[in-house]
Amino acid sequence: MKRPELCIGIDVGTSSLKALAVTRDGAVVATASVEYEFDSPRAGWAETHPDIWWRATCEALRSLTAHDAVRAGDIVSVGLAGQMHGLVLVDSDDRPIRPAIMWNDQRTAEVCEKAQREITPAEIWRLTGNRLLPGFTAPKLIWLKQHEPETMRRAKRIMLPKDYVRLRLTGAIHTDMADASGTLLLDCENRRWSAEMCAALSIDTALLPELFESTTPSSRVHADGAQATGLPVGTIVVAGAGDQAAQAVGTGIIAEGSVACTVGTSGVIFATTNEWRPTPHGVLHSFCHAIPNRWHLMGVTLSAGGSLRWWRDSMCADLVASARTLGVDPYELMLNQAQSAPLGCEGALFLPYLSGERTPHADPHARGSFVGMSTRTTRAHLTRAIVEGVTCSLREVLALVRQTGARVDRIRLSGGGTRSPFWRQLMTDAFDLPTATVEQTDGAAYGAALLAGVGAGLWSSIDRATAHIKDSNSTCVGSDAAHFPAIARRYAHAYSALAPWFSDQAEQDRAEKKIVD
Ligand code: XUL
Repeated sequence: MKRPELCIGIDVGTSSLKALAVTRDGAVVATASVEYEFDSPRAGWAETHPDIWWRATCEALRSLTAHDAVRAGDIVSVGLAGQMHGLVLVDSDDRPIRPAIMWNDQRTAEVCEKAQREITPAEIWRLTGNRLLPGFTAPKLIWLKQHEPETMRRAKRIMLPKDYVRLRLTGAIHTDMADASGTLLLDCENRRWSAEMCAALSIDTALLPELFESTTPSSRVHADGAQATGLPVGTIVVAGAGDQAAQAVGTGIIAEGSVACTVGTSGVIFATTNEWRPTPHGVLHSFCHAIPNRWHLMGVTLSAGGSLRWWRDSMCADLVASARTLGVDPYELMLNQAQSAPLGCEGALFLPYLSGERTPHADPHARGSFVGMSTRTTRAHLTRAIVEGVTCSLREVLALVRQTGARVDRIRLSGGGTRSPFWRQLMTDAFDLPTATVEQTDGAAYGAALLAGVGAGLWSSIDRATAHIKDSNSTCVGSDAAHFPAIARRYAHAYSALAPWFSDQAEQDRAEKKIVD
């Protein structure tokens, strides 16, 4: 019998790495996942040593290739997806010099303010279509030059998180257009590194990886990579994509009009565009899609599922223990409890700015806040307030997408946060648009596998590779939709009232730090 040809997708996530094997029919025959934690050496900082990602890759691929349905010899190609914006620096022996600084790290707030004296926001926008935000890669390089000059002196190349996995797997230092967009060093319109932007920020272009479109088979697994992972030597590795573009491919968000809302650690509204249409002042990210000649608009709530995870780990130990006894997911118990509180939480409200915020408020100083509590407030109210707060934030991002005139016919929900029917209904009502999920839950890894399949010729195009992706769990707008404009107004007002306080606190922290330093 003819063996199936398999393509492998790997997603280097924030708190776990996922790998899966997909057949030519688009069926997932095996999955593996490995969890890890990231470090927060100071408030607002987020780091992971790149070798943690590599070890997780080896473990996940070993477990995948040990699966009955996966014979190493059937694997034709590999695609990589990963958390965006992270900065990995390697020395002349290709060894990481320090832990990677991640997408949700806010240490560069001051650097961003100062850099805009060297290059104006209008110029940055002209060159990249975006604005300088602390989570992006470029300001991390400036910060290192100022605070760790020795690190920068030793750095021979820089890369994004998934690209370090590629380096260990193949020896190549490559990246793709979608992930490169998030560095703020890409001329996204023309899909090439921006020499002007690098010059303005004094960044040596020789540090940058070589650029490819996502489905390009740009390298092959070498002997060391094969030995560590169990993949055959010579397996094609395509350029892949940043996790959001890969997620969009994996959930079929590839044509104008279809919009995705993904709730993982971060929450993302993602809209495909058929032409380059950056938003004024870069209020939304305007990045290359994983498809040549397509782009996308995107807004990011930094702590979406991350807020609920924080709440689970810090305040719900009893529910975690009960969940273990019952053999269920702790989030299920938490969200059941949340449902017992009324819509609007009797005034209690949560701003999910635990790591600062990106969209719509580009505010690294914002902090997570509960407000509006009374003696009636219970934990159920507070859990529900977190879910409603994250939903309101995503609603604000969607409003920005709609303001660009982009067509929004329907929304595909994906990511761990959208597994709950309760949260799905809440989002549907808040967005006032029908929503649906897709069958495949690990969207970014799945998207990476489809990109790999196109690169190896299993499908002739991404459109063909994604043609089988259909809606499931369709949700219609319910009666609570009528209440959302008022809830969203209260939410927006809470941020504007607190914003001056956030910025005062940041000033004070800076002053105190100067005294300590
Ligand atoms: C996207 C972003 C996050 C990370 C982690 O701009 O910062 O979604 O990619 O998933």
